[in-house]
Amino acid sequence: MTSQILRDARKYEETMEKRIGSEERPGFHLSARVGWINDPNGFSYYKGAYHLFFQYHPYNSHWGPMHWGHAVSSDLLHWEYLPAALAPDREYDRDGCFSGSAAALPDGRHLLLYTGVAKETQADGSIREVQTQCAAVGDGMDYEKYPGNPVLDEKSLPEGGSRFDFRDPKIWRKEDGSFRCVTGNCTEDKDGRILLYSSQDGLHWNYEKILAENKGRFGKMWECPDFFVLDGKGVLLVSPQDMFPQGFEYHNGNGTLCLIGNYEEETDSFAEERNQAVDYGIDFYAPQTVQAPDGRRIMIGWMQNWDTCNLHSPEQPWFGQMSLPRELSLEGGRLMQKPVRELEQLHTEEVRHKNVTFTDVIRLEGVRGRKTDMELTVRPGDRENIFRKFAVRFAQDDIYRTSVSFRPYESIVKVDRKFSGSRRAIIHQRRCLVRDRGGEIKLRIILDRYSAEIFVNDGEQVLSATIYTDLQADGISFFADGIVSMDVVKYEIREA
Ligand code: FRU
Repeated sequence: MTSQILRDARKYEETMEKRIGSEERPGFHLSARVGWINDPNGFSYYKGAYHLFFQYHPYNSHWGPMHWGHAVSSDLLHWEYLPAALAPDREYDRDGCFSGSAAALPDGRHLLLYTGVAKETQADGSIREVQTQCAAVGDGMDYEKYPGNPVLDEKSLPEGGSRFDFRDPKIWRKEDGSFRCVTGNCTEDKDGRILLYSSQDGLHWNYEKILAENKGRFGKMWECPDFFVLDGKGVLLVSPQDMFPQGFEYHNGNGTLCLIGNYEEETDSFAEERNQAVDYGIDFYAPQTVQAPDGRRIMIGWMQNWDTCNLHSPEQPWFGQMSLPRELSLEGGRLMQKPVRELEQLHTEEVRHKNVTFTDVIRLEGVRGRKTDMELTVRPGDRENIFRKFAVRFAQDDIYRTSVSFRPYESIVKVDRKFSGSRRAIIHQRRCLVRDRGGEIKLRIILDRYSAEIFVNDGEQVLSATIYTDLQADGISFFADGIVSMDVVKYEIREA
């Protein structure tokens, strides 16, 4: 039975989305249907389509009691909204349906596993949010909460585990048909760790072990884990809160960490070997992956940063967008990310310029736009005397510009959105240390009205940033301090 709270949300979103013109939102990135969204949830391939749910507060553009919004897509780029899937309408989730995941059950139904949040008054009078894991089962459109909820609560925590920070179950099915899930948790003193649970039917769960522990290294509570095997290694993605920067890694406070190591399938043990940041830009958090029918591991993240997102007016009709879905692989022990290849099917109006050798500022014929996929192959115009700086400026007119610059002597790529329509003193720049290739670099820059994603050297690193620039600012120009030689391949992105 659909509750009144869910019916209200469904009615509200259907009415209010009509007030948002198509130009007011991204063309090929998923954005809030109306109101606020954060983490991607329940990313799954079910009944022939990709399903993506998301943390959702439809009633204004700020975080509030969490619902699950819902969208489907056949190509990961065109998303069709479906009615909201979950609302905070039960005792155990009355204060929010927090993040979680989805999988098909053996009988063909779609299982959602999410975190139920319920406030509880403590002995000292303070109020804290108790978090449990809950299930809902449905057909890809409507979901019934499981009568046995919650399916995991404090009784399933290892010693010292906080019941106030126990959330974001990510489920997967093993080859033998059994289920596993990882959840975020921390100790009473806020040291993050990832718990592993197992189940035969997706509804009855047993605690297995601590899969990975922070031990004070990366921030505090670990949110939104995802665990999978990629190119023979175990990969754990996790989003720690309150991280210290380390060198050029982890500059976002709350950011996403990738741990790569050996995974032993039989015992479900994971031995960490390396770590790296997932995104080196400004806006990226809480990603989730799905395995596509063709075997690709595809990741999508929330393209925002908790520290910069609550500064806008509540009247704004929507807030929050997802990153481009990215294909993951491992190369030389590093996580590589590429935009999903489906994007190429939307390419139109190809423009190519080869061996453009220049110094100072140039513009190139046919190179402009705000919904574009542009690859720049940059090299020194004079090998004896490598240029000092290269920059590309986009979303540009007399008032606005966003830039990506590269300084080969420092091996630094920088994104700067100072002039991208922001009226606040939020974070506008981020620098990233890239591999030294003697002044060569490849930058693939994908623009979609209100964002820029920069893939460096075929996906060795990615920098994502949202922008607020007026849409008429569609200029693109290039700058060189020294002599640069460059190839440009640029496409417009078709919408429908
Ligand atoms: C991460 C997060 C999750 C939680 C959700 C609440 O961004 O804090 O841990 O489930 O957002 O909206």
